[in-house]
Amino acid sequence: MCGIMGFAGGGEAAPVILDGLKRLEYRGYDSAGIAVYDGGRFCVVKRKGRLSVLEGELQKAPVPGSIGIGHTRWATHGEPSDANSHPHLGSMSRIAIAHNGIVENYKALREYLAGKGVAFSSDTDSEVVAQLAEHYYSGNLLETVAKVINAIEGSFALEFMCLDEPDKIIAVKKYNPLIVGIASGATYVASDVPAILRHTRQVVYLADREIAVLTRDGAAFYNMDLEPIQKRPETISWSMDSAEKGGYEHFMYKEIMEQPRVIEDTLKSAMPGGSNEPVLDALDALRFDRIKIVACGSAYNAGSVGRYAFESLCRIPTEADLASEFRYRDALIDENTLVILVSQSGETADTIAATLEAKAKGAKTLAIVNVVGSTIAKEADYTIYTMAGPEIAVATTKAFSAQLILLYMLAIRLAHRLGRIGREEAGAMVAEIGTLPGHVRGIFGEVEKIQHYAATCFNSKSIFFIGRNIDYAIAMEGSLKLKEISYIHSEAYAGGELKHGTISLIEDNTLVVAISCCDRLAPKTESNVEQVISRGAKVLYITSGGIAFGSDKVFTLREPRVGELFAPSLSVVLLQLFSYYVAANKGCDIDKPRNLAKSVTVE
Ligand code: F6R
Repeated sequence: MCGIMGFAGGGEAAPVILDGLKRLEYRGYDSAGIAVYDGGRFCVVKRKGRLSVLEGELQKAPVPGSIGIGHTRWATHGEPSDANSHPHLGSMSRIAIAHNGIVENYKALREYLAGKGVAFSSDTDSEVVAQLAEHYYSGNLLETVAKVINAIEGSFALEFMCLDEPDKIIAVKKYNPLIVGIASGATYVASDVPAILRHTRQVVYLADREIAVLTRDGAAFYNMDLEPIQKRPETISWSMDSAEKGGYEHFMYKEIMEQPRVIEDTLKSAMPGGSNEPVLDALDALRFDRIKIVACGSAYNAGSVGRYAFESLCRIPTEADLASEFRYRDALIDENTLVILVSQSGETADTIAATLEAKAKGAKTLAIVNVVGSTIAKEADYTIYTMAGPEIAVATTKAFSAQLILLYMLAIRLAHRLGRIGREEAGAMVAEIGTLPGHVRGIFGEVEKIQHYAATCFNSKSIFFIGRNIDYAIAMEGSLKLKEISYIHSEAYAGGELKHGTISLIEDNTLVVAISCCDRLAPKTESNVEQVISRGAKVLYITSGGIAFGSDKVFTLREPRVGELFAPSLSVVLLQLFSYYVAANKGCDIDKPRNLAKSVTVE
C-alpha cells in the first residue's frame, strides 16, 4: 500500500502535495518524494524515512512550481531507500510517475527495456512504468498512458507528468483507489479523500481503467479507447478526522475490517507466482529436526498457534518462545534448528537480539515480517512478508491474521515435503484457508450482537479467557487484546489449569470467555464452562460446535466451522471485535493505548 498525490493549480505545488501526503501517511511511511515541474525540468526530491525527513529537506531547499506529483511509500519491491522512493523518472528525465500497486510482469518488461539500452536506477517494479512511458512516448502523453496500461499486469494507481506537456497530470487506476478533486483554478489527484479535503469537497471517484487528465482549469475523463466520458463530482460531507479512517472511528476498527483482503493477499503471496514463493521454494532445501518460533506479544501468540500447526501436520518438535526470554537463556539450538522470528515491525529489540543469538548458534533463521527492509527482515537468513500493509493502531489485528496465514502455509508445505500429507490433502487445506476471508466477512454480520454483549461487560474488573490446545493459544491473544486497549485485567488459561488455583478467583458475575472450536476437546471445555457457571461466573462462549448451555449466564457466539488448525483465524476476529467494543464503551483511547508503542525498539 502506498499513497499518491498530485496538484495542478495556480499556487505553489510542493506545500499542497506535502500536506496531502501527510494525510496519506497511514498508507505507507518508509520513504516519500515529490516531483514538481519548474520551467523546463522536473525538480525531484525523495528521501528514505518518514515524511518529516522529506519535509525537512524541502524546508532547507524549497522547490518552486505550480504542478507536481508526490508519493509516500510502503515498500514491496526493493528496500526503502532514496533511489527506490517515488516519483521515478525515465532515463531521459522526460516523464515522471508515482505508483501505488504492484506491476506483476515487471521482470519481463525490465528485461525488454534493458535490451533496448534503458538503464534503471532503482530496484522497484514501478520504475518500469516510467521507463516504458518514455520508450513509448511520441508526442502525446494520453496515448502513451493508454499504451503503458495495456502493457502492464497487476494493480495500480498511477500519475504521470511529461516535460513536453507540462500543464497536465494524467492519472489512471486498476484495483487501487484513486480520486480526483475539483476546485476553482486547481485540480487534485490522490489515493484517498483526506488528502484533498482541505481544498475541495468536489470529488470524482475513478473506476478501473478510467483515465483522468488534470490541468489547473479542470479535469477531463477518458476510457481506454481514449473516448471522452462524463464523470460527475460527488460532494463529500465527512469530517477531516473520520475521512482519514475511511469513515470508521478508529484505525483499529478499519484494520479489523481489512482482514479479509489481508488474508487473501497473504495467501496469494505464498502460492505459485506469489511474491513469497521464491523464498518458500528455497526453504524446501533446508534440513532441520526442530523448530523454534520466537517473538514478542501478539506475534508470540501467533507463533503459539503456529506451533500446533507444525506439530500436528509435520510431527516436528516445535516450541514457541518469548524473544526476551530466549535471548538470555542459552537456548538449546544448533544447525539442526529452524528458528522462525515473527514480527510486524521487524524492529522489536528483543526479537532482533533473538535473531542474532539464533544465527550465532548456527541455527537457520526465517523471518515473518510485515515491514519490508526492516532490521529483522535483513538480519534473518530468509524472510517472507505478511501482506498486511501499514498497521497504524498500536494493537495489532490485521498483521496478526497475516502471520497466521504464513505459519499455516509453511506448516502445510513442510508437511507435504516430509511426506506427512499428500498433495491432495495439502491442496484441500490451502483451499480451506481460501475460504477464511468469506467467513471473516460473515463474522462482520455479527458485529451488532458482539457490540451489545460488550456493552454489558465494560465494568468488569477482571476477565478470564480459557481454551484448550490451539484454542488456548488464541485465548492468549484475546486476553492480550482486551487488556491492552480496555485496561481491564485479564488472563488466559489452559482450560484444564483452572482447577489448579485460578478458579478461586471466580466470583459472582466474573466474566469468563471460553473458546471451543476443537471438536475433540469440546466436551472438556464444556465441563470447564459448567464449573465456572456453578461458581457464579457469566460466560461468553465462542464455538463452532452445536452446544447450547441451558443457562442464561452463557452468551454464545457461533463461528463458522473450519478445520481446527484454521479456526483461530476466525476466533481472533470475534475476540478483536469484543475487545474493541469493550474499550469503546469505556471511552478508551483505542488507537493509542496508554504506556504502549507500536514498535518496541528498546529492551
Ligand atoms: C499487541 C501488539 C504487541 C506486538 C509486540 C511485537 O497488540 O501489537 O504485543 O505484537 O510488541 O511487535 P512486533 O510484531 O512489531 O515485533
